[in-house]
Amino acid sequence: MKHCISLIDYTTEQVNHVLDVAIKLRNERATGKGNDPILKGQTLAMLFEKPSLRTRVSFEQAMYELGGNAIVLSNSEVGLGKRESVADVTRVLAGMVDGIAARVFEHEKLIEMADNTDIPVVNMLSDYSHPCQALADIMTLIDEFGRDLSGRTLAYIGDGNNVALSLAIISAKLGINFKISTPVGYELDQSEIDKILAHNPNFSYQAFNKPVQAVQNADAVYTDTWVSMGQEEEKAKRLEAFHGYQINDMLLEHALDHTIVLHCLPAYRGIEITDEVMDGPRSRVFPEAHNRLHAQKGVLAVLMGNL
Ligand code: CP
Ligand code: NVA
Repeated sequence: MKHCISLIDYTTEQVNHVLDVAIKLRNERATGKGNDPILKGQTLAMLFEKPSLRTRVSFEQAMYELGGNAIVLSNSEVGLGKRESVADVTRVLAGMVDGIAARVFEHEKLIEMADNTDIPVVNMLSDYSHPCQALADIMTLIDEFGRDLSGRTLAYIGDGNNVALSLAIISAKLGINFKISTPVGYELDQSEIDKILAHNPNFSYQAFNKPVQAVQNADAVYTDTWVSMGQEEEKAKRLEAFHGYQINDMLLEHALDHTIVLHCLPAYRGIEITDEVMDGPRSRVFPEAHNRLHAQKGVLAVLMGNL
């Protein structure tokens, strides 16, 4: 594994390896002795074209706890593709640091970076996917249901966006049944599902228009914002289209007793999820956010520490 740009490129064994390393590092940290400085002397450059709380803190803290260093760069200083070409920015960074992590609008920028360097490139979210989030989400499911998640069912309600796609991909890799309910016009691209099926022919994928149908028999129900970063101008139209897709107590009456609720955050309380659910007994959203630290350590340790 050289980069972490999309989990579609990973085998099931590789996904499991990153998860195992993440869990090992989390256990090690829980002893209070901290982690070994496996990234001592290494630096990760982190480039942000969009805002972030969890991703920035989890990667920067992960580097620090593994003995390395992180440099955070905002797009107002770098001007990726504007002040300087993506390829040139990458070539410059590659001569000074040991890894590049980027949060970008166009996914192609990450691919262009990877094409122009031998050092690891990590996707910290693009308009297309959010693989590091999906790894933390799976850790949260493992915490609840055990290490083997095959045969479990994950229901995603809302926008067929970057987060939904990464969840579909990782579900396919791990034998998790994936059910999705989106309004018409906001589905995941069928071409993306076909790509996943080409890699993982046994993938159990079901799409519904009614959220209730997706929630039935699901072990976990997941949602994300209806207005992703960069879609602010579509807000009014989207809020109307997504009416009826809120995760609330009424919807969860159709869930199983043990069904948990996940959200990658930031959450728009009262819009895609109610306070009652966010703060209720089914919610695992904060442990999920905390798992970002451990999942990101797993990615960095494997790509930069050769673990
Ligand atoms: N879930 C997530 O990626 O959060 P941030 O946008 O705050 O990094
Ligand atoms: N789909 C959201 C995820 C935020 C972590 C976005 O892209 O803004």
